[in-house]
Amino acid sequence: MNRILVFGSVNLDHTYEVPHIVRPGETISSTVYRTAWGGKGLNQAIALAKAGASTFLTAQISEADISALADFCAPLHLDISRVYPVPFPTGHAMIQVDAAGQNCIVVTAGANSKITPETIRNALEGFGAGDMLLLQNEINLVLEILRSAKAKGIRVVLNPSPCTSEITRWPLECVDIFLLNEAEGLALSGETEPENMLSALLDRYPAAQIVLTLGEKGSIFASSTQRISVTACRVQAVDTTAAGDTFTGYFLSGLLRGAAVEEAMKLASCASAIAVSRPGAAQSIPELYEVQAFFEENAAK
Ligand code: RIB
Repeated sequence: MNRILVFGSVNLDHTYEVPHIVRPGETISSTVYRTAWGGKGLNQAIALAKAGASTFLTAQISEADISALADFCAPLHLDISRVYPVPFPTGHAMIQVDAAGQNCIVVTAGANSKITPETIRNALEGFGAGDMLLLQNEINLVLEILRSAKAKGIRVVLNPSPCTSEITRWPLECVDIFLLNEAEGLALSGETEPENMLSALLDRYPAAQIVLTLGEKGSIFASSTQRISVTACRVQAVDTTAAGDTFTGYFLSGLLRGAAVEEAMKLASCASAIAVSRPGAAQSIPELYEVQAFFEENAAK
């Protein structure tokens, strides 16, 4: 099976369950507080590994946290030999989750923003044509990583999250697959309607494949020759954190094992629904057997 390298963030998530997301000038008490591993890079790598992909993670965390991360990842089939200990604090996120399971997140990048050209050289060593690279936007030097990977013939996947204005200045023609939510689709295309977003992006990047996730409205895959829509699975939302990361990992794992796009999207949609029904980020990502069971249950309805 082809390999995938996730080059991204690792965070310690501080999650506060609150009756509502705090308003400007307001102080409220949380009903539950917990800390756990997260970060879009780690979450997506875990989803890929749980879905069965041969997955490598490159990230940077504090020297003090490396053994705790290794313990956490030990039961997963995830290669973290390229997670480098550095003399900076591990990135962290402050996450509020409201009574409806919606969240808002503040991230402090820490070690995630200390990637150097040397980190890139070491991370990409041994990867080339036939391999896939998955990037988000929670580390520095993403543009340089994108260019270096492309020069090596690696297939590049970009989930431009969190979306910042600088992304529109990146060489996005290097991207083979975009994974976008509606806000990211709007930021990259300037369009508000899903179909217009997809058309505008495909006009600009005709060789790309795009997956647009629309929350409860499902998801759409688009390329210059294909459009596939998949409905979302209905669940009681407990915590939407990492739902997108779970979708990304399960979808790409499907592509890597040669599944049809529609099948990969359906499985990804089930995996993300299960993640939404559980608290937390990395810890909410389901195992493949759970996703398959959920898929069969839903198909039977
Ligand atoms: O996508 C969810 C993740 O976003 C959280 O785990 C948090 O760390 C932030 O990076």
